[in-house]
Amino acid sequence: MALKRVLITGASGLLGRAVFKEFSADASWEVLGLAFSRSSDKLKKVDLTDPSSVQQVVQDFKPSVVIHAAAERRPDVVDKQDEATQKINIDATQSLCTEAAKVGAWVLFVSTDYVFDGSKPPYTVTDQPNPLNKYGQSKYQGEKITLETSKDNGVLRVPILYGEVEYLGECSVTLLFEKVRDTTKTCVMSDYERRYPTACQDVAVTIRQLSDKRLQDSSISGIYHWSGDENMTKYDMAVAMAEIFNLPTSHIEADKKPSRGVTRPFNSHLDCSRLEALGCGQRIKFKEGIAHVLQNYKP
Ligand SMILES: NC(=O)c1ccc[n+]([C@@H]2O[C@H](COP(=O)([O-])OP(=O)(O)OC[C@H]3O[C@@H](n4cnc5c(N)ncnc54)[C@H](OP(=O)(O)O)[C@@H]3O)[C@@H](O)[C@H]2O)c1
Repeated sequence: MALKRVLITGASGLLGRAVFKEFSADASWEVLGLAFSRSSDKLKKVDLTDPSSVQQVVQDFKPSVVIHAAAERRPDVVDKQDEATQKINIDATQSLCTEAAKVGAWVLFVSTDYVFDGSKPPYTVTDQPNPLNKYGQSKYQGEKITLETSKDNGVLRVPILYGEVEYLGECSVTLLFEKVRDTTKTCVMSDYERRYPTACQDVAVTIRQLSDKRLQDSSISGIYHWSGDENMTKYDMAVAMAEIFNLPTSHIEADKKPSRGVTRPFNSHLDCSRLEALGCGQRIKFKEGIAHVLQNYKP
């Protein structure tokens, strides 16, 4: 069988690292991971906002699959940086999809549950997006570009992610543990918006499975959802983390008001039945997954 070639953008990021590891562990895939500020001997430096660099890497590698995970994903940063967001979340997506189409590569665009307004969960793949903030809007535009450039392409929406981090503040779930483990200070945790924390490792496996299916079945296209199935607020996650390490929870206070900063959906739970029907997907329990991630950060 011809070697399968996957190009992974954002391979230095929280999700991209897990996706890179997952494909690299499967000898049937030839993998090229891209990074920007965190390039290394394993990850090639490519500025995705430069169309000629995108053209060069796609033409040279000639992938069969492109997993597009690079993005600016912090809603409060996106809110203040219109031009930079346009370049990485929207224009870079267009260049990548255009170049991928020229070499016949299938693009899977990693998107977010923030394309929904969170008022009527659960959301199926056919539900109409209505993003509440500029981050959600930019990702929705990226989705449309991906599917308009080729109707064969795919979009995978995922909710709040956690995974192996370079430092606790790298991800909004592990960030909570900075406060949880400091039992000398009271901390206030959001107990309003409902979330479905999802392990990067589970998403990575799901992406690899879907990519394998796509290479065997050209009807694999359009929108897919993957998500953990435990409904939790950030307060619930913080308490779960404390319990794992037998820490007290009396210093953790629940905040019942909507989170500050840009508006976030109340409950954008994703219906995952389309992927489940394909036999794709993997879910680890939150306590088990987060215990593994936090093992090096024990107090
Ligand atoms: N994290 C979440 O909770 C979450 C939830 C839902 C959806 N998502 C989506 O999942 C995807 C992955 O998110 P993540 O959390 O892994 O993001 P992340 O950790 O912030 O990583 C972002 C990645 O984008 C790369 N990048 C940024 N600007 C670039 C440029 N100009 N050229 C090339 N690469 C560039 C970064 O490279 P360097 O670091 O090397 O510069 C990094 O690898 C995103 O599409 C995001 O919207 C994430």
